[in-house]
Amino acid sequence: MLLGEPLVLWRDASGAARAFRDVCVHRGTALSLGRVEGGELVCAYHGWRYRGDGACTAIPQLADPARVPPRARAAAYPTRERYGIVWAALEPPPRPIPDVAELEDAAWRTVSTGPFPWACDASRQVENFTDFGHFAFVHPGLLGDPDHAVVAPYEVRTDGHVVRYAYGRPDAPNTEAFPVFAAHERKEATRRTGYALHLPYTIVEHIDWGGADGLVYFFASQPVAADACVGYCLVARNYNLEQPDDVIQAFERTIFAQDQRVVESQRPERVPFDLAAELHLTFDAVAVAYRRAMRAHGFA
Ligand code: FES
Ligand SMILES: [Fe+2]
Repeated sequence: MLLGEPLVLWRDASGAARAFRDVCVHRGTALSLGRVEGGELVCAYHGWRYRGDGACTAIPQLADPARVPPRARAAAYPTRERYGIVWAALEPPPRPIPDVAELEDAAWRTVSTGPFPWACDASRQVENFTDFGHFAFVHPGLLGDPDHAVVAPYEVRTDGHVVRYAYGRPDAPNTEAFPVFAAHERKEATRRTGYALHLPYTIVEHIDWGGADGLVYFFASQPVAADACVGYCLVARNYNLEQPDDVIQAFERTIFAQDQRVVESQRPERVPFDLAAELHLTFDAVAVAYRRAMRAHGFA
């Protein structure tokens, strides 16, 4: 599901991921009921066959099944595969998928966490990912400390469709259950974090501790419908390379579950992009910048 539109996802003969509107042009049957055979998608109802580009190649009910009328096509959407994620767009995408060198660098280990399906609009899930004022209250002991809830001043810069900000804060220690942060070679006890929020729903986050150890988060929220989204979160690091993936996966499952109950309770389900709708204080500068930029780019 993308923006309320059901899609069928499959792989053609070359192994390429394809995304079609999940509707057969013949009688409106969901193509996702069908099967993939010989590199083609075969409708479950009358067996019409579709190629990766959407063209129908055969109509078995015709004496000559290859005499396919030109209107017999599936609506094929642009699709790309990168970082282990299949990306589909309902229109030709105006911008490329953000480049994150670490995710394609053999010296880094990338862990795929989630997916995280939440009952809210993608904007709420993304805004929660940008929000660090809640760490002390929603993730005490894991990402923050209720006795150190003050948010130090920080700058937000908006470059076109990218909202950027950075801050440093006292590091939260590793817990025994989740030793996910770099514990060695720290030059300072400050965790330095830089965010790039690519409108509307993708975030690249770089974390370091002043030394060579680095942690990169890549988060994208799939806008399923007005009240549903799915978060995909990749976590890459260049330390603790032997650590099994399930440590970070279990950590993120815990963190996202703590966020989910809070965010699904928010009303309205979608971020209200009118700045008068909620109460913003100076430390909410990211939320304000996100709302302004979303409006400016027509995503509100
Ligand atoms: S509805 Fe798909 S082949 Fe008839
Ligand atoms: Fe959170």
